[in-house]
Amino acid sequence: MNKFYTLIFCLALYSIACNTSERNELFIIPKPKESIILSSYFNLDNFHIYADNNSVSVANLLGSELNKLDYASDSISLFENPILDHSINLLIDSTISKYSEYYDLVINKNFILIKGSDREGLIHGVYSLIQLIPRSSGINDSKLACVKINDYPKFKWRGLLLDCCRHFMSTDFVKRYIDHLAYHKMNVLHWHLTEDQGWRIEIDKYPKLTDVGAWRKEKDGSIYGGFYTKEQIKEVVDYAYKRGVNIVPEIELPGHCVAALASYPEYSCTGGPFEVEKDWGVFKDIYCAGNDSTFGFLENVLDEIIELFPSKYIHIGGDEAPKYRWENCSKCKKRIQDENIQDTHELQSYFIQRIENYISGKGKKLIGWDEILEGGLANNATVQSWRGFEGALEAVKTGHDAIVSPTSHAYFDYDLDAIDLEKVYNFDPIPIDVPSDKVKHIIGGECNMWSERAPQNTVDSKVFPRLLAMSEVLWDYPTIKDYNLFYERVQAHYKRLDVLGVNYGLETQPIDMTSEYEDGQFYVTLNKGVKDLKLFFQINQEETVLYDSTFIISESANIKTWAVKNNVSYGDSLEIELYKHKALGAKISDLNTYGKTYDGGGDNSIVNGLRGGLNFRDGHWQGYFGTDFEATITFDSIQRIDSVISSFYQYNLSWIFIPKQILVYTSVDGDNYFKRAKLSPQISAKQEGHFFKEFVMSFPEVEAKYIKIKAVNYGVCPDWHPAAGSKSWLFVDEVRIY
Ligand code: ACM
Ligand code: ZN
Repeated sequence: MNKFYTLIFCLALYSIACNTSERNELFIIPKPKESIILSSYFNLDNFHIYADNNSVSVANLLGSELNKLDYASDSISLFENPILDHSINLLIDSTISKYSEYYDLVINKNFILIKGSDREGLIHGVYSLIQLIPRSSGINDSKLACVKINDYPKFKWRGLLLDCCRHFMSTDFVKRYIDHLAYHKMNVLHWHLTEDQGWRIEIDKYPKLTDVGAWRKEKDGSIYGGFYTKEQIKEVVDYAYKRGVNIVPEIELPGHCVAALASYPEYSCTGGPFEVEKDWGVFKDIYCAGNDSTFGFLENVLDEIIELFPSKYIHIGGDEAPKYRWENCSKCKKRIQDENIQDTHELQSYFIQRIENYISGKGKKLIGWDEILEGGLANNATVQSWRGFEGALEAVKTGHDAIVSPTSHAYFDYDLDAIDLEKVYNFDPIPIDVPSDKVKHIIGGECNMWSERAPQNTVDSKVFPRLLAMSEVLWDYPTIKDYNLFYERVQAHYKRLDVLGVNYGLETQPIDMTSEYEDGQFYVTLNKGVKDLKLFFQINQEETVLYDSTFIISESANIKTWAVKNNVSYGDSLEIELYKHKALGAKISDLNTYGKTYDGGGDNSIVNGLRGGLNFRDGHWQGYFGTDFEATITFDSIQRIDSVISSFYQYNLSWIFIPKQILVYTSVDGDNYFKRAKLSPQISAKQEGHFFKEFVMSFPEVEAKYIKIKAVNYGVCPDWHPAAGSKSWLFVDEVRIY
């Protein structure tokens, strides 16, 4: 048949079988590249599965997924041509597309045909089919709408990191996540298996890694931990393979290894002793780079890892390794001398390159966090960029592959005020400055589920629904995105997540409060995170009011607000202090550079009347890394003032400290400044937990038009601190002047 007649034949086939009528949305997530819905039905009450020789294992997967939806499938038969009625047919045919992981799916009145260009593509076709089955959407119906889909991914690496160290996750839970990944056509489970707080994988040669390293003593004296036996690992790896998911194990080095050092202190710089960490953070005890036996130990561990995991990639971490111990270790200093290395940053590079040589000698590829760029990147290494996109940019420019998982979009342990569903949906994995000939080196992205604050039972609420956005972004990052259409798909998808038993969280912060100050009054606006919410508020804990539109407040006040959806409260309440003071709306100048992520909402946010709360990522705090906070506040005219009050934050495990000193100067003319107050806060840097303190700097009343405030950064993290020697953060909000 020539091409023309083939086309006519195909069209005829469709109109006979399905009586073509096109609609727009299939509501599959991630959205397929091309799809049409046709107006007829395949009846799932009566079907048999046929597969070619290469597709039998995928056909078994389909059978088990159908069983979960209560559609019994009997044994699988060998594919027959011509295709029989009431059949579901699976084929792998590498000639149907030049793309890897390609599939096409045809559902017509008489049969279903899924073809994949490879096994992985066929699996994607299976999960598209599963998503389309009405029963997967909680509807008890056997009629499956006729469709035609052609589909393949844009990025080959579509991953999720599960940190099973800070909080242990059972093998069943990990398998459940493999199901979730496959269901959303994600293909990498980055399994974070070793950490300061726990070593989670059995290694025959070093039994203490799990006898000692898998267990930590919590602050209340209880013992917490767990590990995976080799048998369990094999079972999970096999489970993942059958679902088209590759497991990339992460064995952290040279840092984040206190649990290993607690088991084998001889591989540290000091010799220990150590305890498996019970705190969260970055710790200064890391593997000794001057000790050859450390490398012997790591190579032996990697041998067993390589034997267990078929993955081409082995992740070796490489992030957040403080150099303090290396700088003070005679063996590390000798290594620096013997190898003619410049400093401890190059020593990190030496460490990673030595491991990279070993791994590539075993036919595997090394991947590491962007710190592996420090001091020179190992030849064949792939970089996972997490501190923004810069690491990816630097890697691809030198021809290395990179994966993007920046804290700005991909950290699913962060709260929704930092990363909500829309933010993830707007994630563009290709950094803007990547030269066009290097784009191919961005092989994909990953979302990271760190578990410091996420025990297993809370993981669903953090990962979902954000994973839906990530799956779309990595499957087919469209040039024109339409969040509203995606949002509609998500609403439809919730029914599927309900069937899967996913305990999903919110899409966004339910409420955002803004305030404008004008003519002595605050104009307070509450913005709904999603449609269909009712917002309520109280001023100074008085009567409850249903929010309707911007309201006016003339004095300082406490505002509490909360959201309700379908008569059920939606998310946490939000409580904000609104302060009336003389600097409201004043001009800000001479500000030092604050962190991009912690901009507090911009320069003027320090005099907008709203003070940040207990969550230092709430968008109100302004953070200064390694620098002082300095600002000049300029009034419209000279005013009489006698005090400056400002708040500073401390959370030492995130390297945020109360400043060493706070100074206030005033001036009438902008040239001649007079020191009015100097205060040295008496807050111990060791004081634990998240808190902020308000400091009052009073002085005899003076006339002033210009007020300079300076808060002196705490300096480098002290010796007792896990990140000893690293720069620290200063967080400030609302500089009130009276
Ligand atoms: C990381 O978040 N430390 C990679
Ligand atoms: Zn050392």
